[in-house]
Parts: sequence; structure tokens; C-alpha cells
Amino acid sequence: MTRAIYAGSFDPVTNGHLDIIDRASRIFDELIIGVLINKNKSPMFDTDERVGFLRVLLKDYHNVKVKAFDGLLVDFAHNEDAKVLVRGLRAVTDFEYELQMAQTNKVIASDVETVFLTTNLKYSYLSSSIVKEIASFNGDISQFVDPYVEKEIFDKLNTRKGR
Ligand code: PNS
Repeated sequence: MTRAIYAGSFDPVTNGHLDIIDRASRIFDELIIGVLINKNKSPMFDTDERVGFLRVLLKDYHNVKVKAFDGLLVDFAHNEDAKVLVRGLRAVTDFEYELQMAQTNKVIASDVETVFLTTNLKYSYLSSSIVKEIASFNGDISQFVDPYVEKEIFDKLNTRKGR
């Protein structure tokens, strides 16, 4: 049985993330989505919201679980008894950072492997930051995120404006 972890900030989850999750869930017996508790960043959505969106969108995936984590990703992997870290690679620009992370993780935890899935070409430009920026200018983000997440983003922006 192979258990893998797909970790990220997911602030918020995009269709690009969902595509990687769908594909990884077919490759591995169990997939844990690790949602980083970003202590130093100020995310648009708090940890409970980010975890909640993923749980709603992934409710039909019986081999996928969503959990928040803090600290080192490899420690989370050890605690969850997972031997594989899944990362999505969008473009060459991701490569340097991803390689550095994968190699560092390998040095500090030699029993954990990083596996890269190339992002679907359709989503190769997509990031949570770009989605938030477009939404902040009232642009159309319907192609980039699930309708549920789209509504949550605009609700959050409207609440902020109303303050
Ligand atoms: O969605 P992101 O921001 O690209 O995800 C990055 C993430 C969460 C995978 C990375 O920041 C991470 O692993 N953070 C946990 C702390 C850690 O293990 N750092 C050392 C990595 S070499």
C-alpha cells in the first residue's frame, strides 16, 4: 500500500491543484492533502477555510483525506506514514525551487521520495496568487476555480471592502 502526500498552501485550491489531486489519487492507494498552516504569511483564507474547501470538493474521493499541518513536510510525512511527496510542475520556472525542495527533503529524510506530476497544459499558467489578483479587479475566474471557491473568493473580497 502506497500512501502519498500532496502538500501546499491551497490559498485557495485551484483547478490546477484539483487536476493533480485527481491524477495522484489514481496512482497511489491513499493520498493525503496537507494544507500548510502558514504562520508567516497572511493568507486570504485561514487554515479551516482552506481545509474546508478541499473537503467539500473532494468528498467523493474515497482514498483522499485532507489534513492541516505545521512544521516540516517530511515530519508530517513520517507522522502519516507516507513515503511519497507529490508535487506539480507547471513550467521550467518552477523547476529550480522544486528541485531545491526535493533535494533538501531527500537529505533530511532519505526514506521519503518526491514524485513530480507535470501540470495539465490547460493549467500550466495557473496559480492561486493569479486567481486572487484577477478576482481583486473583479475579473472572471470561473475557468480557474470551482464555482464554490469562486463564490467564497468574491464573498471574502466583498466582506473586506465592506469593512
Ligand atoms: O503551495 P506551495 O506554497 O507551493 O507549498 C509549499 C510547501 C507547503 C510544500 C512547502 O512550503 C513546505 O513543504 N513547507 C513546510 C516546511 C518545510 O518542510 N520546509 C522545507 C522544505 S525544503
